[in-house]
Amino acid sequence: MIIIGATSGIGEMLARQALKDGYIVGGTGRRVNRLEAMKEELGENFHYSEMDVTLFDQAKEQLRELIEQMGGMDIIVLNAGISNHPASSITAMEQMVIDVNVSGFVQLFGEAFQYFRNQGHGQIVGISSIAGLFGSSRAAPYSASKAFISTYMQAYRQRCRNLKQDISVTDVIPGFVESEMIEGKKGLFWVANREKAVRQMLHDIEKKKAVSYVTRRWRLIAWLIKVTPRFIIDRL
Ligand SMILES: NC(=O)c1ccc[n+]([C@@H]2O[C@H](COP(=O)([O-])OP(=O)(O)OC[C@H]3O[C@@H](n4cnc5c(N)ncnc54)[C@H](OP(=O)(O)O)[C@@H]3O)[C@@H](O)[C@H]2O)c1
Repeated sequence: MIIIGATSGIGEMLARQALKDGYIVGGTGRRVNRLEAMKEELGENFHYSEMDVTLFDQAKEQLRELIEQMGGMDIIVLNAGISNHPASSITAMEQMVIDVNVSGFVQLFGEAFQYFRNQGHGQIVGISSIAGLFGSSRAAPYSASKAFISTYMQAYRQRCRNLKQDISVTDVIPGFVESEMIEGKKGLFWVANREKAVRQMLHDIEKKKAVSYVTRRWRLIAWLIKVTPRFIIDRL
């Protein structure tokens, strides 16, 4: 299993739990010091590659090298994401969110899809968000980027079926999960313990579910958002 964005939060916990469950795990991220520390601690079944997903060609090359180092890949988890970024202007910040969450995602998704087509099987897991189910005034590019991920993966599930490809596409939709991303944010509720959230996520990945709400209770919120009239959502 290769986890893109394994240096903190959900991705790091997923790497730890997957290793405990017997997977050979590859992790990536820009903070190479964290990857080195994880390697030291987690041992021979953990492989890593420094990677910035916005350097598209380099990131795809690094993915290919990591696959080779690990002797293959059956599952890729496209977890890297940001909700904010220090920048000189709002537009520059929003562009960076799109570069990581959308463009980086698409580039690595495409690379993994081609690899799995050649191999004849595989699973691509993307991490969207409950925030992708509606436009949020506090995080326009973030919520839009997560809607993109969910819609994109739904389209690829259809494509895999049409092409009769044995490639599963799993959309993990978290509510709030303890991590650096939500540190200091106010007004959050049902913030899940990271270990519990990742345990559920891993279970659903193994079941090859099309969609996984993490934690489960967020399915209720997703349903509420879907049935709430637009004029109410527009006033949030
Ligand atoms: N926590 C939540 O409540 C929540 C809710 C819904 C969805 N999510 C999603 O879950 C995923 C993981 O987030 P998290 O909460 O665990 O936050 P996090 O602790 O901030 O983890 C983000 C991960 O993404 C990587 N990343 C960010 N920018 C990158 C870049 N340019 N190139 C390569 N890797 C990059 C980070 O690695 P480096 O910084 O080392 O590069 C890190 O490993 C994200 O996609 C997020 O949108 C989180």
